[in-house]
Amino acid sequence: MGHRVIQWGTGNVGFHSLHHIIRHPDLELVGVHAHSPEKIGQDAGSLCGLAPETGIVATNDIDALLTLDADVVVYTVKGETRPHEVVPELERILASGKNVVSTSMIFLIYPQHADASMREPLEKACQAGRVSLYVNGIDPGFSGDVLPLAALQLADQIDEIRVQELCDYSTYEDPEFTGVSFGFGRPADYTPPMARAGVLRAGWGGMVQLVADQLGVELDEIRESYDRRYAEAAFDTPMMHVAKGTCAAVRFVLEGMAHGRPVVVTEHVNRLRQDIAPDWPMPPDGRPGVHRCIVKGNPSVALECFVEGADGDHNTGGVQATALRVINAIQAVCDCAPGLVSTLDLPYTPSRNVVGGS
Ligand SMILES: NC(=O)c1ccc[n+]([C@@H]2O[C@H](COP(=O)([O-])OP(=O)(O)OC[C@H]3O[C@@H](n4cnc5c(N)ncnc54)[C@H](OP(=O)(O)O)[C@@H]3O)[C@@H](O)[C@H]2O)c1
Repeated sequence: MGHRVIQWGTGNVGFHSLHHIIRHPDLELVGVHAHSPEKIGQDAGSLCGLAPETGIVATNDIDALLTLDADVVVYTVKGETRPHEVVPELERILASGKNVVSTSMIFLIYPQHADASMREPLEKACQAGRVSLYVNGIDPGFSGDVLPLAALQLADQIDEIRVQELCDYSTYEDPEFTGVSFGFGRPADYTPPMARAGVLRAGWGGMVQLVADQLGVELDEIRESYDRRYAEAAFDTPMMHVAKGTCAAVRFVLEGMAHGRPVVVTEHVNRLRQDIAPDWPMPPDGRPGVHRCIVKGNPSVALECFVEGADGDHNTGGVQATALRVINAIQAVCDCAPGLVSTLDLPYTPSRNVVGGS
């Protein structure tokens, strides 16, 4: 049976989410929330590059959206920088009896790891509405749950599990959020949000904790580090202009420590040009990016994941995959017992949308 869906947010992820929902045979779009005044009143189709023929018009009227008969909200608004607005908004949606699958609020990928001030009111709202909230994406998300959990099925005598996103972000046209939070195009004296103590742990630590819990390993701490490299000459990218001396590559690492060594590690290397910081880990030759999990053990196992959008771009593919990770989980999340759920609470959630199928 099809699910009735409200798309909440029409930015990078929301654009693709809306597109896939409208064209999905098992999903029925019943509402769209937009924030920018110029998007209000537009047909959903025109907000995602399709014909403006859905008859569903974008609104910022939350009360009206909450009265719609919908099974689920696909929530993709900018969340991490606005938790004081987003948590109460999510509480209202959940308490109204709508499940939520979200790419926003990456702190909740593994709810057990999230701060109680965020987790508890949302859990209460889930129980009030008898619904569930699932947060995921490609990274954090898929790379830190499906990849390591799959690799570990082939491994033994484990020394270290390392999850990597090694990705050229130059075509990721998100200077306001990704650009600012990573610190790209900014001088050395700018401290980006990600470099502040605890921010990486809150955002990506859930991935580390989830894998440690699956291993049955008690972590002593999760260490975080953030490093960057600067452009030796100015250059332009679709993401932004990078002036000489400003940040052109970022590397961050979270290390889940046990037995006196890092046992579960997650690492990002994001460049705005592929020749910056050649001494940092690189994607395979000829690839602009990879999500990879390496289990060092006996035997060792490595899994690599490459995504590509229909336009041939890996960043488009990554944003689509982020949306689809939660869209493909809609059925499972609607079937779950009420509460905050992680990938561990869901069955296998593949797409079943085969081209040419009914
Ligand atoms: N885990 C992963 O792999 C992954 C990957 C990518 C993104 N994400 C997460 O997904 C979320 C969306 O990312 P994105 O790249 O799509 O961001 P984005 O392009 O910046 O879009 C943000 C959305 O939030 C809305 N918005 C901004 N300010 C708002 C406000 N004050 N009130 C209400 N709505 C507001 C925007 O509405 P308008 O467009 O109407 O202005 C837009 O729809 C983020 O939380 C991000 O961290 C996760």
